[in-house]
Amino acid sequence: MKLKAVLLALSAAALVSANAFAEAPIVIKFSHVVAPDTPKGKGAEKFKELAEKATKGRVKVDVYPNSQLYKDKEELEALQLGAVQMLAPSLAKFGPLGVKEFEVFDIPYIFPTKQALYKVTEGPVGKELFKKLESKGITGLAYWDNGFKVMSANKPLHSPSDLKGLKVRIQSSKVLDAQMRALGANPQVLAFSEVYQALQTGVVDGTENPPSNFYTQKMHEVQSNLTMTNHGYLGYAVIVNKKFWDGLPADIRTALEGAMKEATTYANDIAQKENDWALEEVRKSGKTKIYQPTEKEQAEWRKALLPVQKQMASRVGKDLIDAINKETASLKN
Ligand code: LMR
Repeated sequence: MKLKAVLLALSAAALVSANAFAEAPIVIKFSHVVAPDTPKGKGAEKFKELAEKATKGRVKVDVYPNSQLYKDKEELEALQLGAVQMLAPSLAKFGPLGVKEFEVFDIPYIFPTKQALYKVTEGPVGKELFKKLESKGITGLAYWDNGFKVMSANKPLHSPSDLKGLKVRIQSSKVLDAQMRALGANPQVLAFSEVYQALQTGVVDGTENPPSNFYTQKMHEVQSNLTMTNHGYLGYAVIVNKKFWDGLPADIRTALEGAMKEATTYANDIAQKENDWALEEVRKSGKTKIYQPTEKEQAEWRKALLPVQKQMASRVGKDLIDAINKETASLKN
């Protein structure tokens, strides 16, 4: 009798804990370095909303913006170790991981328009690049857009020679290093979370980013001049820890893929609007002068920066550059 009671109690306890286990949601920690009110920040929140809905709460997505958990380089290590499950680093930050081909996106003027960019990210080139991540324990899920970059400093930057001798913060990309050297500037790699202070204290003199990142990090408070160079592109790869992703129940993974697809459309749709809004806010602040280069000056920027493409072919792969140029040839203006 006593034994029967013990067994009953044990099986009841097992049932309770099995239920509790079955109900515990799968948690996706999604870490990123930008502000919540940016294309990437809003895309991450949209994915959370859609993923939790599509899986009826079986998946919980916790978004950590603004380098709250990790800085640029650390977040990639954390993903590989499984400390976080999802990231969306800029395409300029995959070099230290050993996948330098992603730096092709940093080549000045390689994408004449957003259409040209989408043709690449949504086509075979985009897929091939994702394949290169697999051996690093990473699965690529989507490309998210931000925008074309502008240059800033505490002096007017009308033509490339105005950059001469300036210390300029860049992301950890050798192509960006070559780009700044082509302008006669002195490139300094810094984590995104360190840029504001570095500009404020004069550790660096200038930087480049799309207006959305510039404004939401308050760089307009510490940079008096901005030039609409639109010389290069900034976008992201949404990536997951491969072991985690492959280990998900198939129905959950399918639901998450659907949520990612929808979040990607959303993020890409708002990117331009967010950047237009941010530029307007910078203008309204009255703290940073926005300069639109003349056609002659734009030609000077191009002339100074176009050689970077040839120069960096051996790093990112000539075939890859050729493939992109071929895909976008019909869209060049
Ligand atoms: C930067 O580090 O400048 C940006 O790429 C940050 C980001 O993720 O947009």
